[in-house]
Amino acid sequence: MPDSRSAASESDISRDRLAELLNEDLAREYQAIIGYVVYSQVLSGAEYMDIAAQLEIHAKQELDHALILSRQIDYLGKMPAVTPKPVRTSKDSKAMLRYDLENENETIRNYRDRIRQCETLGEFAMAEQIRQILVQEQDHQIDLATALGEEVPDVSAGPKGRALGKRR
Ligand SMILES: [Fe+2]
Ligand SMILES: [Fe+2]
Repeated sequence: MPDSRSAASESDISRDRLAELLNEDLAREYQAIIGYVVYSQVLSGAEYMDIAAQLEIHAKQELDHALILSRQIDYLGKMPAVTPKPVRTSKDSKAMLRYDLENENETIRNYRDRIRQCETLGEFAMAEQIRQILVQEQDHQIDLATALGEEVPDVSAGPKGRALGKRR
């Protein structure tokens, strides 16, 4: 497959590099699946029962994201990664939610970059798929920030204006 490298500019990215970055995203999705599978079951305290149910939904959505990314990596002619980023654990419910929120912030930052990189390469359908993933990641971020009683973090020009707690 030809490499579409041309003039070296900041937004210049090859298809090989995009596949590498998508594999990093995939490793973050595996991390998210594991985190949500475990945290949804071990969160304790009546005040966390709502968010525990939401985390079960997140776990399934993260699996969908992993499948979409694997398909795109294969389409780019590369082998999808098999190793998750490390998952932190804690006995403290608040700490678990905080880890999830930090991971979602990082994921959102990355997908925003990825959409621009896909568009630079003319991969508009791939950009669209990642946009749909990004919509769900922002919902996860809102769910977690709401459960922690915090403002939704502004990870750049973020989803600040959104109504909190809209989705159940
Ligand atoms: Fe995800
Ligand atoms: Fe997520």
